[in-house]
Amino acid sequence: MPAPGDLPLLSQTPPEWAPSVLTDPVGLLIDHAFLEKKAANNAMDLMIRWPGDWVPGWVETMTSVARDEAAHLAQVTRLLLRRGGRLTRIHKNPYANALKALVRRGEIHEALDRLFVSALIEARSCERFALLAEATLDPELAAFYRALHASEMGHYRVFTRLAAKVAGKAEAEARWTQMLEHEAGILARQEPGPRIHSGVSS
Ligand SMILES: [Fe+2]
Ligand SMILES: [Fe+2]
Repeated sequence: MPAPGDLPLLSQTPPEWAPSVLTDPVGLLIDHAFLEKKAANNAMDLMIRWPGDWVPGWVETMTSVARDEAAHLAQVTRLLLRRGGRLTRIHKNPYANALKALVRRGEIHEALDRLFVSALIEARSCERFALLAEATLDPELAAFYRALHASEMGHYRVFTRLAAKVAGKAEAEARWTQMLEHEAGILARQEPGPRIHSGVSS
């Protein structure tokens, strides 16, 4: 498993984050289930927003990501129910909302930014799943987080690859640098709590 530091993220989650969120594993699984649900929805939404083969492999990629995310949702829901939790209807995700606010208008800009928002969420999730896999004392959760780390790493790569195809390498790289900076700032402003993208108490 690659170390969290191998990701392009500009900030590294401190070691105390994982043990702190693992004090409420059910709360964390509830947040996680919403994350997977949103990820599945996002992939389908990207597919519907730009139907057809405007970028080679677009439909195949989005349907394949949506399938993976739906499978993750099923897994996380199973773990959650077995541990006595259940999904609630409403859930807030200020981290993802702040990232989505960065999406610009205009077809290419919108597509590029939406791909990068997706890639950033995947990359940060990857970093955190690796930390959770190492920190949890529950072997079932450790195996689950390890498997998700690998899958979300694949998604992160897929989204960044598509971004380069959509906007060209130079424009994609310039925007990616900006988006990475935004992500680090947004994450630093998050409140602590049992969430995959929570902040760390100071
Ligand atoms: Fe996922
Ligand atoms: Fe994913």
